Amino acid sequence: MKTNVVSTKGGWKRTVKRAAVAAGAVGTLFASWVYGSTEARLQARYDVRVAPLAVPNEYETIARGEHVVRALAKCTDCHGDDLGGGIMVDSPMVGRLVAPNLTSGEVARRSDEDLLRALTHGVAPDGRPLVVMPSHEIGELGEEDLAAIIAYVRTAPPVRRELPPLRLGPVMRVLFATKQVDLLPAEKIDHARARTKAPSPEPTPAYGEYLAKSGGCYGCHGPALAGGPIPGMPPGSPAAADIRSERIGTWSFEQFDETLRTGVNPEGRTLADLMPWRATRKMTDVEMRALYSYLAKKPAGATASNP
Ligand code: HEC
Ligand code: HEC
Repeated sequence: MKTNVVSTKGGWKRTVKRAAVAAGAVGTLFASWVYGSTEARLQARYDVRVAPLAVPNEYETIARGEHVVRALAKCTDCHGDDLGGGIMVDSPMVGRLVAPNLTSGEVARRSDEDLLRALTHGVAPDGRPLVVMPSHEIGELGEEDLAAIIAYVRTAPPVRRELPPLRLGPVMRVLFATKQVDLLPAEKIDHARARTKAPSPEPTPAYGEYLAKSGGCYGCHGPALAGGPIPGMPPGSPAAADIRSERIGTWSFEQFDETLRTGVNPEGRTLADLMPWRATRKMTDVEMRALYSYLAKKPAGATASNP
């Protein structure tokens, strides 16, 4: 009887030991699968040719470019106010996301075609897919606005800033490997799509839709604009708000305008800094009205065609 118990205990211990060894093996297998599959996607090469685009070096084009960069496409949110680049996220588990310096060094020496490939396809000159650069949204911009961005970026005074390399932490790797987070816009962009022209800048829902899709509202507020946690942000970051017509439609234009210009909503609450109101405050009255007319009346259930 006694020996039996001991041997049972021993058996149990052996089983636990075996299970632990097996779990360790599965863990190691999982870790190497995560690393291998994410590296394969990061090291993939996209052979994308872009049609040339005339970039006029005129005052109006450069001024329009400055507005698109700072108020609409919000490049400055990630690349910095001086476009000299910056660290977006740096955490041991999530990793380090770095937006490069656009004013000096490697990127400033790129050709117009190279910049256009980055902006609209999310692909670097060597075919590498860019990480987190929102080209699926920027690529929604019309040709004139894309040309204006390039014209303006070329005029930015050179900034000397050394930035550390990009690094994906273990949590980000797992989310990316299991497709819970999109890190590579190049994977979802239709690389055969033709460039388009912007709708005319009037206070219409069509122009508002253009501004919402190219302006990142869908990227943070989600494909249905219903809000929720923002993919890729470190744990504890504020969730995006619900901005469907059920909510925005109950606001007057003045309330919407004030929220996007001051970062304080109609209930008097100061919004988290993650909401880029310092960019949206620079929108023109026509743009603000267009965006409002689109968001306030957007049919329930409508989603971005190319989120
Ligand atoms: C959400 C943050 C974010 C926004 C907004 C953003 N970028 Fe980027 N961008 C990045 C990151 C991150 C990279 C680096 C990706 C990499 O190296 O894999 C990048 C890379 C680039 C590159 C480099 C491509 C190369 O050749 O190596 C260019 C050019 C660029 N961005 C321009 C812009 C412009 C212009 C805008 C606005 C129209 C913009 N970006 C908006 C995050 C952003
Ligand atoms: C980088 C991510 C990000 C982008 C891009 C973004 N938002 Fe937001 N937005 C947020 C977050 C986060 C909140 C919630 C802040 C809070 O609750 O403190 C928010 C809140 C709001 C609110 C306030 C809602 C309320 O009920 O108080 C409005 C309105 C809004 N966003 C509209 C927009 C529009 C329109 C765009 C596109 C032009 C946009 N946002 C782009 C992250 C973003």
